[in-house]
Formats: sequence, C-alpha cells, structure tokens
Amino acid sequence: MQSRLPCGGCTIAAIVAISASLPLLEAAKAASSRSSARSYAASARSVPMSLEHLETALLALEKQRGTPELAGTVTEIDKMVTEMKGMVRNQSKLTQQTINQAWSDFISCAGLYDIDSRSDLQSVDSIARVHANCRLEESGKKMILDACEKELAVRSASELQRKGEFDTLNQFPSSGFCAHHTNSQQYSTVRGYIKHYRDHFASHLLSWENAFNASTDATKAKLHTLRDCYGDDRTKNGQGGKEEALVTKKVDCQKLQRKVEDAACDRIAHRADCVSYAKCYESNHNAYFASGQTKETSIQQSGKQREEYRALVRIKCVLDAYATYQDGPSLSKSISDCQQVQADVSFLDISLPDEADAMPPDNTACLQHSSSEKPGSESFTTQFYQSLIAKDDSTHWDNTKDDVLTCKGRCCPLPTDATV
Ligand SMILES: *[C@@H]1O[C@H](CO)[C@@H](O)[C@H](O)[C@H]1NC(C)=O
Ligand SMILES: *[C@@H]1O[C@H](CO)[C@@H](O)[C@H](O)[C@H]1NC(C)=O
Repeated sequence: MQSRLPCGGCTIAAIVAISASLPLLEAAKAASSRSSARSYAASARSVPMSLEHLETALLALEKQRGTPELAGTVTEIDKMVTEMKGMVRNQSKLTQQTINQAWSDFISCAGLYDIDSRSDLQSVDSIARVHANCRLEESGKKMILDACEKELAVRSASELQRKGEFDTLNQFPSSGFCAHHTNSQQYSTVRGYIKHYRDHFASHLLSWENAFNASTDATKAKLHTLRDCYGDDRTKNGQGGKEEALVTKKVDCQKLQRKVEDAACDRIAHRADCVSYAKCYESNHNAYFASGQTKETSIQQSGKQREEYRALVRIKCVLDAYATYQDGPSLSKSISDCQQVQADVSFLDISLPDEADAMPPDNTACLQHSSSEKPGSESFTTQFYQSLIAKDDSTHWDNTKDDVLTCKGRCCPLPTDATV
C-alpha cells in the first residue's frame, strides 16, 4: 500500500506514509511498541538498522526545513538509505540462492536412482519356475540312479551268494573220499561200486558247472548294472552312467538357482535405491513446491523486497529534493513529484529455476515393483523353491533340498551371519 499525497506541504506525512509502506518499518514499529529500547536489529537480524531512526530522522528533517542543519541531516539519512538499498539487494541475492539450493536439492534426487539401468530386472517368479522344473528333472534322475543302485545292491548280494555257493563246490574232495564203503549194499558188486561213482561224480560235475555258471552270470549281471549306474569305469565318481546324468542336471540346476537368487538380489538393490530416491523426491518436491515452502515464500519475499526498494528510491528522491532546494515551493513540488517515481526494480526479480522445462520426471512409481524376500531366508526358500518343487510329490523336495538350501546368489547371507 503506497500513499500518494497531492499536496506539497505535507512532506513529513508523505515521507512517513512512504516509510509506512516499507514492510520493514511495520516490523520496526511493532518491535518498538513492545520495547522502545530494543533496536530493530534485534527483531530482524537481516536488517541491522533501526528504521525507527530513519523515521525519527525524517521527522527532524521537517523541523529543520529552511535551517542550516538541514544539509547535514540529509547527508546522514542519505547514507542510511544507501545502506538499506544494499541490504535489500543482498537479501534478494539470498532469496535467489535459497530457491536455487532447494531446486538443486530436488533435482539431485534423480542421481539416487537410474530407471534405465533397471530395465533388465528379471522376474524372480518366472526364473524360479524354470529352476523348479530343472529340479524336478534332477529328482527324476536321482530316482533312476537310486533304482539302479538298488538293483546293484541286489546283484552284488546275489554275486556274493553265488560265489559262496561255487566256492563251496569248488573244492577237491577230502582224502579218503573215494574209499570203498564195504558195508554198503550198493557196493556188493563191482558193477554197483563203479556205477555209484560214475553217478556221483556226474551229478557233482553238473552241480559244479551250474554253480560256476551261476557265479559267473551273477558277476556279469553286477558288472552290467555297475556300468549302467556309473559308466564304463564302473566307479562312483560322477563320470558316466546314470550318475553322470544326475550330476550334469544338478549343475544345470545350480546355475539356474544362482540366476533366481541374483535376480532377487538385483530387485532388493533396486528397491533400496528406489526407496531412497522416492523419499528424496517427495520431501524435496514438497520443500520446494508445497504451500508455505521455498517457492511460495521466495516469491513473497521478492515482492516485499521490490516494494521496499521502490520506497527507498522515493525517500532518496525526497532527500535529493531537500538537498537541492532546502525550502520553498520548488521543494514542495519536487517532494510531491517524488510520489510518482516508479523505480525500475527488475534487477531484484528472482528467476524460478523450475520454469525452463527443467522439471525432472517423477519415477516414484518404482515403488510399485514387487519386492522379493532375500535369498537364503526361510520365506524365500519356501516361496520360490519348496512350494514349486514339492507341489505334486514331496519326494522331489527331499531329493533336491540339500543343494537348494545352499544359498548361491551374490547377496546371500555370509556363513557368519547364520544363527548358531
Ligand atoms: C552485501 O553483501 C556484500 C557481499 O557479501 C557485503 O560486502 C556488503 O557489506 C553487504 N551490504 C550490506 C548493506 O549488507
Ligand atoms: C554252463 O555254461 C556253458 C556256457 O554258457 C554252457 O555251455 C553249459 O551248458 C552250462 N552248464 C550248465 C550245467 O548249465
């Protein structure tokens, strides 16, 4: 609110009215009404100068109209006005710095989260299903190997038994075996004696051959099963046969498991970035744009600064009039004209950094991406492994769990993290 008085003879009223349009002066008056001893500087640290003094000085100016002291007073007040203009300029710079800082805080949030680098985030669920299928195949191969080993156990037992039977028969008779049993009815004739031994050794030879063949066949069958289970080297070393098929499949599944867990690790890292980004974005967006915050406050402050500066220019104009005319109608006219001065204060305008298509995109939607549990946790294992692998038959879980429960991703808990 600015006063425009038409009369030339009401200088003090005009100057006081001009001064009253200074928001600073209003504050000074409020301060002085509470405590006349307290200087304006105490209540507004940014303007360490008493506007009361300026007002007092302006009143003294009217009293001194036409006197020799006038020049000295004018010079004093002039100094104060010059100083106050400097303060307003400095305040305007501070206002600009404040708004620049708040804006740069806001846009710097973008550095916390790069949405483009996250476009390759994989779905943990879909890889987990591929992995579960692999584990089902692994379990199938384990069952085949188990059956083979079960057969091998039967064949080994059988070989042992046959070999024992053969060893029993594969002996030279004890001495005296062929001694003549004189009491035997069968041997009452020589013919009977010879016939008896012929029959006895013929059946013995048959038994020996049968036992030999059974033992040999049992060994062949065992070797065949050994090859079947473990390959040509017939050794349980992961190379060859049904064992190798299982081991190969397990390695494939381990690779897939690592992929599942790494994908989960990526999502966890992504989520952490996203959360800090979203927090930063929202709070700094508010700090800049919200009602009563930096932007609105700065615009208001800037408006006041322009008003104050214009008022100071008008006061300076009055002071110049006093310096030029001391008294008389020319002075009154000049003072009156000073009311019309519209100083160009555009140099105090603040520039709003948000007005140049500079608004960063709002990527806070990253929070909506599903998060996943940490690999190695019980809930992760249940959700992404056990429930998928055991869904038809819990045997599959039993067959694979030892390996699956060993966390393989890059964000797995360290062994030292495990609860003892
Ligand atoms: C304005 O700021 C400048 C530089 O910081 C300083 O030298 C000068 O004294 C200040 N002027 C006023 C009136 O506070
Ligand atoms: C034992 O095996 C051999 C060779 O296969 C065969 O010729 C012979 O008849 C078999 N002996 C018996 C008693 O089965």
